[in-house]
Amino acid sequence: MSKSDIAIAVENLRFSWSPQTSVLNSCSLTVPKGELWMLLGNNGCGKSTLLRLLANLLIADEGHIYTDSPLGFVFQNPDHQLVMPTVAADIAFGLVSEKLSLSQIKVRVREALCAVNLLELEDRPIYALSGGQKQRIAIAGAIARHCQVLLLDEPTALLDPDTQIELVALVQKIVKERNITALWVTHRLEELNYADGYFLLKEGKVVSQGNPRELFKN
Ligand SMILES: Nc1ncnc2c1ncn2[C@@H]1O[C@H](COP(=O)(O)OP(=O)(O)OP(=O)(O)O)[C@@H](O)[C@H]1O
Ligand SMILES: [Mg+2]
Repeated sequence: MSKSDIAIAVENLRFSWSPQTSVLNSCSLTVPKGELWMLLGNNGCGKSTLLRLLANLLIADEGHIYTDSPLGFVFQNPDHQLVMPTVAADIAFGLVSEKLSLSQIKVRVREALCAVNLLELEDRPIYALSGGQKQRIAIAGAIARHCQVLLLDEPTALLDPDTQIELVALVQKIVKERNITALWVTHRLEELNYADGYFLLKEGKVVSQGNPRELFKN
C-alpha cells in the first residue's frame, strides 16, 4: 500500500494517564482510504483513548500519528455533541470557522442532510429527534465540514437493534459513496458484517486484525 492509499496510520504509540498505568503500548495500525474499519476490545483496553489521540484531543507520549483531514468525531451520546437549538443551526455551527457565505452554508447543510436521508428534519428542534436521528445529524455535521476521516466511538450503544443496523449500513454507504474513511468502535459483533476490516485491541496493542469474516470463523 502506498502512502496516498492510507487515511489513518498509527505507529508505535505509547500513552499513559500516569507513570504507573500505561494504556497504549507499541500500538500500531493502518486504515486504507475509503474503508470502514472497526476497533474491538474489552472495556478499558484503550479504544476511546486511541480515538482521542487520533483526534488530537490527547497527546501521545511516544510514536507517530497520521490522519487525513478534516476529521470528524461521533460520540456514543449525541446529547454531548449537538449544541444548537435546531438541526440546521447545529450543522451550520460546525462551519463557522470556514468563512462561507450564507448561501454556501445552506448548500452544505442541505447536502449533508441529504447524505443522511434527513432533509425533511432541517428545521426540527434537536430535542424532538430520536436517538438514531441525532446520531445521523452528528454524522451530517462531519459531512458538511467535508471530513475525510470519521471516528465513531460506540455510536450505536444507545440505539435499539434495528436503528443500530440502519446506522452502520448508512455509514458504510457514506464511506463508499464519498470515498471517506471511518474507524468505528463497537462491542456489537453483528456490526462487523458492514466493515472492511477489524482491529482487536488488547493490553494497549493490536493483537489481531484483518477480514471480519475470519474473526467470525474463530
Ligand atoms: N481521564 C482519565 N484519567 C485517568 N484514566 C483514564 C481516563 N480516561 C480513561 N482512563 C483509563 O484509561 C483506560 C482506557 O480507557 P478507555 O476509555 O480508552 O477504554 P475503552 O476501551 O474505550 O473502554 P470501554 O469499552 O469501556 O469504552 C482505562 O483503564 C480507564 O480507566
Ligand atoms: Mg470507550
